[in-house]
Amino acid sequence: MDKFKRTLVTTALPYANGPVHIGHLAGVYVPADIYVRYLRLKGREVLFIGGSDEHGVPVTQRARKEGITPQDVVDRYHNIIKKSFAEFGISFDIYSRTTSSIHHKFAADFFRKLYDEGKLVEQESLQFFDEQENRFLTDRDIHGECPRCHNLDAYGDQCEKCGSTLSPDELINPHSKDGHPLVKKPTKNWYLPLNDYQDWLKQWILAGHKEWRPNVYGQCKSWLDLDLQPRAMTRDLDWGIPVPVEGAEGKVLYVWFDAPIGYISNTKELCDNEPEKWGSWQKWWQDPESRIVHFIGKDNIVFHCIIFPTMLKAHGDYTLPDNVPSNEFLNLEGKKISTSRNWAIWLNEYLVDMPGKQDVLRYVLTANAPETKDNDFTWKDYQARNNNELVAVYGNFINRALKLTEKYFSNHVPALGELSDYDRQTLAEFSDCKARVEDLLENFKFRDAQKEAMELARIGNKYLAETEPWKVAKTDMKRVETILNLSLQIAANLAIAFEPFLPFSSEKLRRMLNMESFSWNQLGRTDILPEGHQLGASELLFEKIEDETIQAQIQKLLDTKKANEEQSYKPAPIADTVAFDDFLKLDIRVATVMACEKVKKSDKLLKFTLDDGTGTPRTIVSGIAKQYTEPEALVGRQVCFIANLAPRMLKGIESQGMILSAEDYDGSLSLTALEHAVKPGSKVC
Ligand code: 2FM
Ligand code: ZN
Repeated sequence: MDKFKRTLVTTALPYANGPVHIGHLAGVYVPADIYVRYLRLKGREVLFIGGSDEHGVPVTQRARKEGITPQDVVDRYHNIIKKSFAEFGISFDIYSRTTSSIHHKFAADFFRKLYDEGKLVEQESLQFFDEQENRFLTDRDIHGECPRCHNLDAYGDQCEKCGSTLSPDELINPHSKDGHPLVKKPTKNWYLPLNDYQDWLKQWILAGHKEWRPNVYGQCKSWLDLDLQPRAMTRDLDWGIPVPVEGAEGKVLYVWFDAPIGYISNTKELCDNEPEKWGSWQKWWQDPESRIVHFIGKDNIVFHCIIFPTMLKAHGDYTLPDNVPSNEFLNLEGKKISTSRNWAIWLNEYLVDMPGKQDVLRYVLTANAPETKDNDFTWKDYQARNNNELVAVYGNFINRALKLTEKYFSNHVPALGELSDYDRQTLAEFSDCKARVEDLLENFKFRDAQKEAMELARIGNKYLAETEPWKVAKTDMKRVETILNLSLQIAANLAIAFEPFLPFSSEKLRRMLNMESFSWNQLGRTDILPEGHQLGASELLFEKIEDETIQAQIQKLLDTKKANEEQSYKPAPIADTVAFDDFLKLDIRVATVMACEKVKKSDKLLKFTLDDGTGTPRTIVSGIAKQYTEPEALVGRQVCFIANLAPRMLKGIESQGMILSAEDYDGSLSLTALEHAVKPGSKVC
């Protein structure tokens, strides 16, 4: 770390085709923000770059779906995304966009330099073409049957059912989204010959960056163990940056060529605007003393570790990334987060539903960060972590320390007197927390680093619980002075240690402690607040979250699940044909319900007593209790039932037939209804 003078931190540019959700925050933006805030607190020179990725298929697909232009899509979502990040305290120095003219020119110039220097290979190939729409289709726009699992709706680049990476040529019966048949047409594109850089990449990553996270290193290794192929850097599309060479009309730069260049063009935009503050953009990208760190999600590893570095190497003027911390995925209540299925917690909605609770989400997402494996977000865990950790540990300690100081010392920091053995032991426990948190943060272990910070709050809580200043106050005010002095020093330490993780709460605590500012170097010290220092007004640092609030969020997801099931409902395939004579073997009749009650020890079964016209009451047990919660209300109603089914025992009751009901898309059951009443025992045919 120390061989570098400054650090440039970038975060994957999210596609501006929809709002951002908790998966984005957990995977990329919260860890990056923690890292940057930590470096800033340490007084390091650091620059934090963000922005929207506004080209690419996800944007054009959204535009087509909504019947608006791609520009309309990105204008709408860029602003929503930018606002959400700001509201969550993601402290970018710039958040720009890839439709900016600065970026268009920068990316085109980059391409042109590679082209002029013969670093790109021109190649003609056959690509899928939709004659009805008169356009080439991108891999994502091509649909067909997966050759591996036979999912009928796989994409040309991936099958979402079995997770296989595919190429369009592998699809069985490739067609457009609207079912148009496709033809293959020749087209010219420019390729980056990744194969020429394979040995260099092996040396640089496999030999030179063994410290990268195992998931990143492992993915790079599996790519580099195979033969890399040239990769097209241009596409036959009309949305994107026009390819700046003659004979390339109707073609644009591949989105994965232009998007990472956005990190550089955004740096340029910022530095050009405020050169006195940031210096030149070249300082950040071309000086070997600048350290570049890309925070990304695991689906972006190959682009940031193989393709973009090859582009930079081919260009020749750039520093390569020093690290590419990448997280695995966050699931939501056990299911993969999905934009198209609306299975997500959208940041813009969270801010409306849970106002002022940005830090709670930041805390939970870091506590559960998918650093080494996919992890799950659940609302119950969110509530438990808030109530049992933020409120009961951190908040409780701060609240007690401040309230006691207010009560006994009119909000002034009391003097530190003679230390007891227990004081010394407590000090020893927390004085090395700086080194521990620092070491974890330097190594991108944010989850453990936050745990360490919370450990400090636990130490504080334990200290107050065991020293009991409210009792000591009756006999020894000198001792109370020391206890509260130390407690307030721990509180100040907490404000500093948590600043990278919970910036809003640290700011609140800073005001309560009336500290002007703080720096990382104060961490671990016991003289942060001088004797006599006047504290500010205190308020609750965190608030308990009630069951109703959580239930409302769970209900929102259940509604989404229901809507998804309804939307994707397909009737079961029709069963094999049966002979008419076989059908006649079933004796279906009408009966009138004489009595109906719940079967004991079962939440599914109802016991019906039926008048089937024979004069002998018939008993049938039916699994419809969930839908008919007031069985008595069914008395008098007519139902259809199979009268000649062999009887069977259900929960100790002999069921003499089966009552007919329809099963809806969500598994709920509905009794058949008759147009008008008929005599019990009437045949149904
Ligand atoms: O996966 C994505 O959401 C991409 N838009 C990330 C781009 S990262 C970078 F290259 F800009
Ligand atoms: Zn498949």
